[in-house]
Amino acid sequence: MSSLLDALQSKALAELASIADLKNLEDWRILYLGKKSQLNQALRSLSSLSIEERRQMGAQANQLKALLESSLEDKKKTLQQAQLTGTKQEYFDITLPGRPLTLGRLHPVTQTIREICSIFSGLGFQVVEGPEVEWDYYNFESLNIPPGHPARDMWSTFWMDVSPRWSGPVSQGHLPAQASPMLLRTHTSPMQTRVMEKTKPPVRVVIPGKVYRYEATDATHESQFHQVEGLAVDEGITLADLKGTLYEFARRFFGSDRKARFRCDYFPFVEPGVEMAIDCWVCKGAGCRLCGQSGWIEILGAGMVHPHVLERVGYDSSKYTGFAFGMGVERMPMLKNGIDDIRHFFTNDLRFLRQF
Ligand code: PHE
Repeated sequence: MSSLLDALQSKALAELASIADLKNLEDWRILYLGKKSQLNQALRSLSSLSIEERRQMGAQANQLKALLESSLEDKKKTLQQAQLTGTKQEYFDITLPGRPLTLGRLHPVTQTIREICSIFSGLGFQVVEGPEVEWDYYNFESLNIPPGHPARDMWSTFWMDVSPRWSGPVSQGHLPAQASPMLLRTHTSPMQTRVMEKTKPPVRVVIPGKVYRYEATDATHESQFHQVEGLAVDEGITLADLKGTLYEFARRFFGSDRKARFRCDYFPFVEPGVEMAIDCWVCKGAGCRLCGQSGWIEILGAGMVHPHVLERVGYDSSKYTGFAFGMGVERMPMLKNGIDDIRHFFTNDLRFLRQF
């Protein structure tokens, strides 16, 4: 019996020494210390021995059990340690940094709107927003574009499929705005009228928002895009105020070395109307493909608010004058960062969006 226990001891310890992972260690424990182990059977069979033998064998078997148990514990500690510090093949590196959470960010269009608005806030303008589904009255009529006026051709429009119905009062033969058809606004200019209807001069507002045009999509045209409108009305406002304000905006947004150019343009709701261009960022004015060899890139339309627009909201046009402007938002980062296709903004490709 004693030689059996000796053999068991050397076999068990030799096998233990070669174990390299916790799974095999558990198998070893079951084999040598489990209920059906040889050692356990030896302990159970002690009763069949004489008292003398029993005492001797019992002591030896218990010693062996204690030795195997403590060797098991030691081995377990060594393996766990190796697992934590990564010194063994099967390891868990506790020093590895966790996976970072992906942080969202603002869409480049939102970033641009905020940048534009914050520049104008710094110049004393308030920021207001307005409805995207608009009455014909605000989008066109209040801006000197009556039905049938050829200027309507400047805007291709999404009309709402509701025929105008009005059962309310008709004052002096004029139907109210709410009796006109509805459309997705083609520009943010209807907010000029809405703001002036609700406030007395002085007015200084910028209006960011979505606008819609029934248009074939290509690299520079989308049927949905964003504009920022501006309006300033007060006593004694002149074209010089318009130019000074927009020059300052261009310098703050596009850089202090930017040159700007104003030329005559036509919008029914301003008189005179202008378009503003900045010198091309690629060729610095020399002429290239981006600027169509002209050296200039048009960035916005503007002008002095037409007296009829002021009178229509009840402002005295002999006392008050004002300027208004409207710029396309997507165009700004396109020009600033050399983005060649407006559709990138709306396809939600993270490889594009992550660059901002
Ligand atoms: N609303 C015009 C457009 O969409 C831009 C504009 C705004 C022009 C204000 C003059 C004054 O093209």
